[in-house]
Amino acid sequence: MNKIGILGSGVVAQSLGRGFIKHGYEVMLGTRNPDQLSDWIEETGNAASAGSVEETASFGDLLVLAVAGRVARTVLEKVEPEDLSSKVIIDATNPIEEAPPVNGVLQYFTGPNESLMEQLQKAFPESSFVKAFSCVGSAFMVNPEFESTPTMFICGNDETAKKDVRSILDQFGWETEDMGAVEAARAIEPLAMLWCIPGFQENRWTHAFKLMKL
Ligand SMILES: NC(=O)c1ccc[n+]([C@@H]2O[C@H](COP(=O)([O-])OP(=O)(O)OC[C@H]3O[C@@H](n4cnc5c(N)ncnc54)[C@H](OP(=O)(O)O)[C@@H]3O)[C@@H](O)[C@H]2O)c1
Repeated sequence: MNKIGILGSGVVAQSLGRGFIKHGYEVMLGTRNPDQLSDWIEETGNAASAGSVEETASFGDLLVLAVAGRVARTVLEKVEPEDLSSKVIIDATNPIEEAPPVNGVLQYFTGPNESLMEQLQKAFPESSFVKAFSCVGSAFMVNPEFESTPTMFICGNDETAKKDVRSILDQFGWETEDMGAVEAARAIEPLAMLWCIPGFQENRWTHAFKLMKL
């Protein structure tokens, strides 16, 4: 698992890409327009590259899904099925509607008893989706410096895949809380709504969740 294919070109893809490179992985970012990433590649060095979504999925031993939630399924449908099957896919997406927040609360296109990751896991049953990185801002995804170690909530159906993601989260400076199977994404995805409220209401974006335990 040395090659990471990140489907996406935005702040999340770039931030996680930098993180994986810092920890010794090779990274390709997948986008409709690889030329837009030339500055990012120059800044991050030899282990970084950009390609089409299809090339990136083929490149990665492990994939990260970091595109707008509303196009997540369409983007994965572009990929050859053999480049998705048997792979771990870290799902950082959120099902954000193309509509403004209401009093600081993001609008989602999923209801309370469903989640985007369940839809994706059902559509691509040969892949092992693991929700992670969805409930914190991109600036804090890699080795964030808070007073104590923050918690990353993950879920997914494949125990081995979650073990791989847990070891990445260890490297990236997170304490991992495994919330169970894919249905737990119904609870994890809305944490991004909660995370964003202080941002939209008071321009406070510098926090992360921590599960307090006895
Ligand atoms: N921003 C954050 O801090 C943050 C934190 C946690 C989770 N997330 C989630 O992580 C994901 C990525 O967030 P982001 O802020 O980095 O990026 P974003 O602005 O939500 O999405 C940009 C990405 O989506 C792709 N995209 C948009 N419209 C498309 C279309 N019609 N067809 C194909 N691809 C399309 C873009 O592809 P091209 O490169 O081809 O243009 C680009 O890679 C989102 O699901 C977001 O909810 C974001």
